[in-house]
Amino acid sequence: MKGDIGVIGLAVMGQNLILNMNDNGFKVVAYNRTTSKVDEFLEGAAKGTNIIGAYSLEDLVEKLEKPRKVMLMVRAGDVVDQFIDALTPLLDEGDIIIDGGNSNYPDSTRRMKDLEEKGLVFIGAGVSGGEEGARFGPSIMPGGNPAGWPAVKPIFQAISAKTDSGEACCDWVGREGAGHFVKMVHNGIEYGDMQLISEAYHFMKEGLGMNHDEMQATMTAWNKTELDSYLMEISSEIVGYRDEDGDIVLEKILDTAGQKGTGKWTGINALDFGIPLTLITESVFARALSARKEEREEAAALFQHKIGPVEGDREVWLEALRKALLAAKIISYAQGFMLIREASEQYNWDLNYGNVALLWRGGCIIRSAFLGNIRDAYEANPDLKFLGSDEYFKNILEDCMGSWRKVVAKTFEIGLPSPGLSSALTFLDGYTTARLPANMLQAQRDYFGAHTYERTDRPRGEFFHTNWTGKGGDTVSTTYNS
Ligand code: 6PG
Repeated sequence: MKGDIGVIGLAVMGQNLILNMNDNGFKVVAYNRTTSKVDEFLEGAAKGTNIIGAYSLEDLVEKLEKPRKVMLMVRAGDVVDQFIDALTPLLDEGDIIIDGGNSNYPDSTRRMKDLEEKGLVFIGAGVSGGEEGARFGPSIMPGGNPAGWPAVKPIFQAISAKTDSGEACCDWVGREGAGHFVKMVHNGIEYGDMQLISEAYHFMKEGLGMNHDEMQATMTAWNKTELDSYLMEISSEIVGYRDEDGDIVLEKILDTAGQKGTGKWTGINALDFGIPLTLITESVFARALSARKEEREEAAALFQHKIGPVEGDREVWLEALRKALLAAKIISYAQGFMLIREASEQYNWDLNYGNVALLWRGGCIIRSAFLGNIRDAYEANPDLKFLGSDEYFKNILEDCMGSWRKVVAKTFEIGLPSPGLSSALTFLDGYTTARLPANMLQAQRDYFGAHTYERTDRPRGEFFHTNWTGKGGDTVSTTYNS
């Protein structure tokens, strides 16, 4: 019997996806460029399963039923193109290549078009959930050439996470690089969530002077509220985790954050699309700032910067902090969906935002209870421009506003860095201000560069220039927005 699907790449994610596929009754052919890893896998985790090995790409292709489905679980970048180039001559018309790595979406769009010209089908699928997700149920965000979806759908929906009502956290996202774009934004939102939780931990520890058992109890309680999420759950475990000596491991971990790039890509795309993705981009910068450890130690000594204590009733502050966290999280997701919407319009992907929220409802790193509410919001109003305008979320934002302002003000007062909590608040203040001071910006641009401006008392699209100095000429600059 030939294999249902081939998987190339036996690193953590690849191995666990293969085992998940095998658990769900699919016959999988496993290949790795270092073929000794194939034998190690078959003798190890795959022992006693229906998984079979392949020792060359020709061997892999020969062992697959048609239309062949070959999934790449390899590093994003050139390696993906190298495997595609090596596989292409071995495949027949209608065969499918799936890239399940964290590839940059323009690469997926290019690959889909290149392979379509050769009669082959390309799917770029974001896969989220880490090792555990891959093994027992990831969120899968497939996009690319829709011709491949019918053949791949049964496998992906079988292995994906399921919502409480049994819906697969996997469905077709859209054409070209849409799947990897949505995965990229997922990772950007992940950065934001992780930053917000880290700021709350910092506030509890340095501001409120709480010990780790107290912080663990607080986060555990928060995880029973609208903040119920995978990241809050693991953070509540992390904050109280002790090693064999009884020491808190968290306090032995160096405060320098790494990043593999997906959060950065999200920020770059937000700038390119002109989307004010402030919290997520601040989260990327926060990681970059944390990485400058030696500089920060020098500056801390030079400025003698100390984080002040937070006085007052701890329980009152903790409830205020919970509300600030919830409100800022809503803004982060709202900004993420603004970016997805802009890309959908610019690329004509016609994305279904409720469907995206459903994909994230389970299995992925940002899975959380309120993704169900996000799905409801977009089901009720598919054209929702700002998630915070949905009744459910608007009510939460209004209920949390006072606490949010109080917490952010306190972080400024005591010198506790709060890029996530504060950037989200100031975004909302800007978004809900009908008259911003951009008229001063336009006047400045027109004064020194004759860049012209529109007027409040004239139709949009009409541009004017003022000869501010009386000495300027009549030539004006052309108007354009980068
Ligand atoms: C997921 C994760 C994963 C990501 C790692 C590392 O959805 O399973 O987002 O895809 O690559 O978490 O990401 P950073 O190194 O950028 O934090």
